Amino acid sequence: MMRLDRYLSEMGIGTRKKIKEMVRGGRITVDGSIAKNSDIRVDENVAVVCLDGKELSFNTFEYFLLNKPKGVVSATTDSVHKTVLELITETKRKDLFPVGRLDIDTEGLLLITNDGDLSHRLLAPGKHVDKCYEAVILGEVTEDDIRTFSEGMEIPDEKGSISLEPAGLVILESFDSYNEENEELLSGLSINLDMAADSLERDGAEKAKYSRVRITIHEGKYHQIKRMFEAVGKRVVYLKRISMGSLTLPDDLNTGEYKRLTKEEVYADLSL
Ligand code: URA
Repeated sequence: MMRLDRYLSEMGIGTRKKIKEMVRGGRITVDGSIAKNSDIRVDENVAVVCLDGKELSFNTFEYFLLNKPKGVVSATTDSVHKTVLELITETKRKDLFPVGRLDIDTEGLLLITNDGDLSHRLLAPGKHVDKCYEAVILGEVTEDDIRTFSEGMEIPDEKGSISLEPAGLVILESFDSYNEENEELLSGLSINLDMAADSLERDGAEKAKYSRVRITIHEGKYHQIKRMFEAVGKRVVYLKRISMGSLTLPDDLNTGEYKRLTKEEVYADLSL
């Protein structure tokens, strides 16, 4: 159940003031009767609400799979940066939110919805689904790192340290620095690679190398992947989420683009 004015506002038909005027003008009916007040309660799942005789269909839940670009924050409002919600132009709903967060400089799969129950199921401790990322790491990733990640590692935390669940790490390739093939990839990265490589070399590495990896984590701790690599003396210079459960980022979905999903697709794909 929800208040009529909230229902109408979520349908995007106008400001609170406009909605009040519409109700006062007798333009809104609920189940065939003219609504006298905008604070009456309606059941959003079954009520038939009409404006000027035309039914408004309250599409209870919406789901969007966004390929988040860098520079955009996973929040509903922000006074400085653009939010992921501003990229979803094909909705009038005011109650959408991102399911979990990707860092401002992380790209890739982000679900945007107004389905709080789904969000809870995906984020509640003990109910996490696997999240797979592709990353470029400054520093050569080794078999030792694979073992450390797979055994469940400790990372520093403000409380001392926290233990992580085992994570899957696959090395896709390692390279010295620029070559024609990786130039495009590296040029799109968010940090100054020369400066980062210099500092790594000063820290004792002979010649900074990079590795491209795929990493699968189960939890979703704050900056988790960056902190995991930091704990083994390396640095994430590019990060993109490519899947969450069996929901995968489509190859043809460019950064900044999104695709609408049905409830059935979301629930089936996430095996919830
Ligand atoms: N781990 C990170 O460090 N950042 C993200 O955005 C996601 C996972």
